[in-house]
Amino acid sequence: MPNISQAQSSSFDSKPLKVAVLVSGSGSNLQVLIDAMQAGSLPIEIVGVISNVKDAYAVTRAQQANIKTAVFSHITEGDKAGKRMGIKTFERHATAQLNEWQPDLIVLAGFMRVLSGDFIHSAPAPMINLHPSLLPKYKGLDTHQRVLESGDLYHGCSVHLVTAELDAGQVLTQAMLGVNKQQTAEVLQSRVQQLEHQILPWTILLIAQGVLNLEQINSDAKPSPYLPALPLKLWLDN
Ligand code: GAR
Repeated sequence: MPNISQAQSSSFDSKPLKVAVLVSGSGSNLQVLIDAMQAGSLPIEIVGVISNVKDAYAVTRAQQANIKTAVFSHITEGDKAGKRMGIKTFERHATAQLNEWQPDLIVLAGFMRVLSGDFIHSAPAPMINLHPSLLPKYKGLDTHQRVLESGDLYHGCSVHLVTAELDAGQVLTQAMLGVNKQQTAEVLQSRVQQLEHQILPWTILLIAQGVLNLEQINSDAKPSPYLPALPLKLWLDN
């Protein structure tokens, strides 16, 4: 009979979860996933990164790690007025690219465009999003400033299933911290980002190991009696 450490290592020996990541910004969360993949501490293979921002540093991070990238910029080439590529055009390109990569999971890590229901439903894999608030509170933008203005005692970040309604899909996991009212929104953002760097790989690990079964969560099927009610919450004060 295998001992516990043999049984655990065998779950990492199985095929890695193929992950596509959508980004718009600096990509610090993408970097955490790259580092974990390269260290062998997360059973994933990042099959590609899609950015809607041409010079997003996330793209450089992916290229440095020899990960395939696709940029469908929301600024039309040579258009000084900054006319936006329509969301439909972006989605057409992104769908074709995802179909080519065939990921098992699509991760929005700092992706700052709202996606249509058609795109989400026709995607080749379930989609999760990292959001900087304790959903359902503070959907949308400027979450840290809004938390400070509201005088909330707690703040944090969430990983949730993506649905057609903005930031409204089933929340899978959350990491929480205590708000220090003396701190600025920038300091609070940086503290929340440290939480994000733990909650995102942890959530993907739970998905890769089948602890969180996204198809089952998306359906009416009865959840495992051993899984606490979602979202799973981590108190990660820093
Ligand atoms: C993260 O803080 C993430 O929560 C936020 O963008 C940042 C990206 O950071 N996402 C959203 O606001 C989505 N609505 P990163 O590019 O350094 O990973």
